[in-house]
Amino acid sequence: MSANPVRRVVGDVAAEWRGRGNFPPGPGDFSWRRTHQIAHDPLPLLLGAYEEHGPIFSMRLLHIRSIFMLGPEANNFVTVAHPENFHWRESSFGDLIPLLGDGLLTVDDEFHDRARAIMLPAFHREQVSAAIAAMEVETEAAIADLPVGEVVDVYDWMRNLAMRIAMRALLGLDPDEAGKGAAAAEHFERALHYYGIDYGLRLLRGPGSPWRRLLASRRVLDEIVFAEVARRRASPDPGRRDILSLLVGARGEGGEAFTDREIRDQLMTLMFAGHDTSTSTVTFMLHELARHPEVVARLCEEQDRVLAGATPTIDQLEREMPYLEMVLDEVLRLYPPAWIGPRRAVRDFEFGGYTVPRGAYVNYCSWASHRLPEVFPDPEAFIPERFTRERKAALPRGAYVPFGGGQRVCIGKRFGQTEVKLVATMLLQRQRFDALPGRTMTVRQMPTLSPVGGLKMRVGKRGIRAGLPLPV
Ligand code: HEM
Repeated sequence: MSANPVRRVVGDVAAEWRGRGNFPPGPGDFSWRRTHQIAHDPLPLLLGAYEEHGPIFSMRLLHIRSIFMLGPEANNFVTVAHPENFHWRESSFGDLIPLLGDGLLTVDDEFHDRARAIMLPAFHREQVSAAIAAMEVETEAAIADLPVGEVVDVYDWMRNLAMRIAMRALLGLDPDEAGKGAAAAEHFERALHYYGIDYGLRLLRGPGSPWRRLLASRRVLDEIVFAEVARRRASPDPGRRDILSLLVGARGEGGEAFTDREIRDQLMTLMFAGHDTSTSTVTFMLHELARHPEVVARLCEEQDRVLAGATPTIDQLEREMPYLEMVLDEVLRLYPPAWIGPRRAVRDFEFGGYTVPRGAYVNYCSWASHRLPEVFPDPEAFIPERFTRERKAALPRGAYVPFGGGQRVCIGKRFGQTEVKLVATMLLQRQRFDALPGRTMTVRQMPTLSPVGGLKMRVGKRGIRAGLPLPV
C-alpha cells in the first residue's frame, strides 16, 4: 500500500476499470453530498440503500465505487464463511498503516494467522484477570477526581482513564512517568488525532501539516517502545504480566519469536484498537443510562446483591452479573464503536445474485446491520431485554457483530468487555450521571463511533435522586 495519495487514487481508478460492468446496484455518479453524508451521517444513507437494493449495493464515494454488505447473511459471509475473499490491508482504512505498521489489523492470510496464534495466549482469561488490578487502581483514582455536583465531559474522562489503563496493562508503563508513560500517552493521542480530521486535510504533506505531526509523534512512540522492548529482552522478568512483556516472551508453534519491529507494530495496533473502543462504549452507556433510570435501578440491585459494595472479580463480571452483560450488549448494538469492517476483494465472488469483481472495496457494517427492523424490532429503542441468554442465542448467525467474527474477531474482546464492565460497575457503586437539560448527542464515526464534542453530564452521588442506598 502506498502512503502517497495520488498513487492510491490512480490504483483505485485502474482497479475499478478492470472490474467495470460488474458492480452491484447503486449510484455510480460522483456526488459531494453523498460523500459528505457518508463521512458525517452514514446511517440514513446505508439503511435507505438497503431498503432499495437489499443486502448488497454500491455507491460512489469520492472517486471510489464502494460496496456495502448489510445484514446477518452478509456479515457472516464476510467474516466467517468466506474471509478468504478479502484483505484488510488494501481496504479503505489502509492509511492506518503508517502508524500501525504490520500489526494484526493491517495484515492478512498466513502472516495474520501466524501472528494471531502467537498473540492469543496474551489475551487468555488469566491474563485479562491479571490486568484487572491495573484497571481497578486507575478507575479508583479517576473516580476520586470526579467533582460531585459539577459538569464533566465523561468522554474526556473515560478517554484519559482508558489511556492510563492501556499504558499500564499493554505497555507496562507508569502513566505518570514523564518521558515514558505520560509521553507515550500524549503522542499516541496526537497521532490518533490525524485519523479524526477531514479527509482533505489528511492529504496535505508539507511542513506543519497533520501528516508531518503524525510522523513526529510516531518517532517519539517508536523510541519509547523500542527502548522498552530492549529493556525486557535484557532483563526478562517472568513476574511481569503486561502485554508487551508477554509478547517479548511469546513463541509460535515452531518456537519462533516476534522481532522488535513486530512487537512495536502489534502494540500500536492494540493501543489503537483498544483505546477509542472502550472509551466510546462507556460514554454511550452513561448516555443511555441517564435516559433510563429503571435500567440503572436494576443494575444497582444486581451489583448490590452480588458484590455488596466490593470490587468485582472477573468471575463475577463474567458469570454473576447477567443484567450488566445485557446492558452492555444493547449499548454495543446501538453504538458499535468499530462500526465498519473495511475490506478489499482479492478475487471475484458471488453474493446475493451479483458478482463482485476482484479489487473492489467492500465493507460490512455492524452499525447499520444492528438497526434492521426485521432483525431487531423497534431498532432505535434501548431495550437490554433483547439480550437475555435465550434471545441472544436465537438471533440469526451474523446478526450481532460488535466484535466482528471468524478468524479476525476482536482479539481484545474479553479485555474490552472486562474494562467496560469494571468501570461501569465501579462508577455505579458511587456516582450518578445526569444529562444536561436540552442537550442532545450527535454521533460521529471517524475513526470509531464517538459523541461529537464529547458528552457533558452532571456528576451526582449515587442514590440521592433515585432513592437508592449509598454503598457502605
Ligand atoms: C468494546 C471494546 C471493543 C470493541 C467493540 C471492538 C471491536 C472490534 C471489531 C469489530 C473488530 C473486527 C474488525 C473487522 O472485522 O474489520 C476488532 C478487531 C480487533 N480488536 Fe477490538 N474491539 C474492542 C476492544 C479491543 C481491545 C481492548 C483490544 C486490545 C487490547 C482490541 C484489539 C483488536 C485487534 C488487535 C483486532 C484485530 C484482530 C484481527 O484482525 O485478528 N479490541 N475489534
